[in-house]
Amino acid sequence: MSDWSAKNPYMTTITENFILNGKGSSKETRHVVFALEDSGLDYKVGDALGVIPENPPHIVDELIEVQGWNPNHIVTTHNGDRELRVALKKDFEVHLANKKFVASLAQKIVSSGIDISMSFVNRQRTVITSGSSGSAQLLLPSVPSDDPASKIEAINSTTETIENYLWTRDYIDIMREFNVKYSPEEFLDLADRLKPRLYSIASSHDAHPGFVELTVGIVRFEYNNRPRGGLCTQFLADEIGTTGEPIGIFMSPTKSFILPENKDIDIIMVGPGTGIAPFRAFMEQRVHDGGGGRNWLFFGDQSEKTEYYYKDTIESWLDEGHLYQFTTAWSRDQVEKIYVQHRMKEHGKELWNWIDNGAYFYVCGDKSRMAKDVHRALIEIAMEHGGMNETDATDFIEKTMMREQKRYLRDVY
Ligand SMILES: Cc1cc2nc3c(=O)[nH]c(=O)nc-3n(C[C@H](O)[C@H](O)[C@H](O)COP(=O)(O)OP(=O)(O)OC[C@H]3O[C@@H](n4cnc5c(N)ncnc54)[C@H](O)[C@@H]3O)c2cc1C
Ligand SMILES: NC(=O)c1ccc[n+]([C@@H]2O[C@H](COP(=O)([O-])OP(=O)(O)OC[C@H]3O[C@@H](n4cnc5c(N)ncnc54)[C@H](OP(=O)(O)O)[C@@H]3O)[C@@H](O)[C@H]2O)c1
Repeated sequence: MSDWSAKNPYMTTITENFILNGKGSSKETRHVVFALEDSGLDYKVGDALGVIPENPPHIVDELIEVQGWNPNHIVTTHNGDRELRVALKKDFEVHLANKKFVASLAQKIVSSGIDISMSFVNRQRTVITSGSSGSAQLLLPSVPSDDPASKIEAINSTTETIENYLWTRDYIDIMREFNVKYSPEEFLDLADRLKPRLYSIASSHDAHPGFVELTVGIVRFEYNNRPRGGLCTQFLADEIGTTGEPIGIFMSPTKSFILPENKDIDIIMVGPGTGIAPFRAFMEQRVHDGGGGRNWLFFGDQSEKTEYYYKDTIESWLDEGHLYQFTTAWSRDQVEKIYVQHRMKEHGKELWNWIDNGAYFYVCGDKSRMAKDVHRALIEIAMEHGGMNETDATDFIEKTMMREQKRYLRDVY
């Protein structure tokens, strides 16, 4: 066992980092490989990897410029005394603004005596954003045109108005908008500490000794003509690449999202999008370990042409009989949306037979929509093919399978 942790990460390098999507895709999903070298780090399938990102240098530099700070000024942080530029890059999240900062604006404009003749926009703005799951229209609050205090009050009026406001602005936007100046210490007191990001491991250590591999959906969006995005995913895609620069990692082991000990037990895996990550690892492990259990994988994403991640590997598992069934849901290859839960229901009778015979059921990927719909589909399958009423079906899925037998397992985020 090694002592690497979030507080004491192993500094390693990325050996492979490439886009899995085909040309013309609206998504950017990457396969990223980290070397474990002499770290002593080990993992089992189902575990997650912690990655320590850094803020993009262009945001750090712009922040320093907008505030007129001295980048070499020494500040005290939770990681010790540092130059301000290093603290902004490594210790705090400065790529997106937080609520605490917005709440501080009212006090700040009073104490700074901000010129209230500044021009403000007085209309409801609709901002179109495009994220991985399509476009969203967001209504920003209508605010008085010539009074910063009223504008800040309107922004801070409800959780929704604050969230809408923050959705399209970072610290630099807000500082420019209100022409506010903070001392480095004041700002760092408000900013969130930088947090590591977790990723479901997409490899079996037995199949890739000395390496750990991830499937990462890059978060990118744009507003006010400036490209923005997720801290860690952009760091992996744009900053670190395969530059050989060191990057901090640590293992986050799971106790529950594990393969059945008995290798003869069947497993059903539902992992659309990046949810495929742990199931690539599960499959590699099941192939390595042998055993008579059958493997059924449900996968889906926008289009077969551009999102069929790990196609060659999946086809070879099918050819060699390791993958008993591969059921796909390409959501945008036809007019109506087809999702994994629709495919589950189409195959409801067979799926129920597997579950009835003791199969493990795994789900990985989007927590807010997909996992809930898959859960509902399971209950409906138990009703339709298991002859249960809704209460019994819900009880069976949530109590018996999930809590007592621990064979309905989720890794959702
Ligand atoms: C156990 C676990 C396993 C995970 N496994 C994986 C995995 O295998 N693969 C994977 O890709 N991810 C995985 N994740 C998610 C991952 O940890 C990160 O949350 C994800 O990569 C985003 O991190 P980030 O730093 O790039 O984005 P952040 O900097 O954290 O930013 C994301 C934020 O951007 C906001 N945002 C998104 N779109 C817009 C927009 N259009 N306008 C304004 N704001 C927007 C979102 O609201 C969100 O708050 C996992 C999470 C957990 C907890
Ligand atoms: N917590 C975080 O910080 C964080 C960060 C990044 C991502 N995420 C989540 O992780 C998810 C994974 O992103 P991803 O790009 O890998 O995949 P994704 O956006 O979940 O998309 C994968 C597939 O799932 C489909 N889908 C959409 N809604 C669904 C539903 N209700 N039920 C079943 N399938 C559904 C999508 O179809 P359509 O797109 O055609 O509708 C697509 O075909 C994101 O959805 C996001 O919510 C979370």
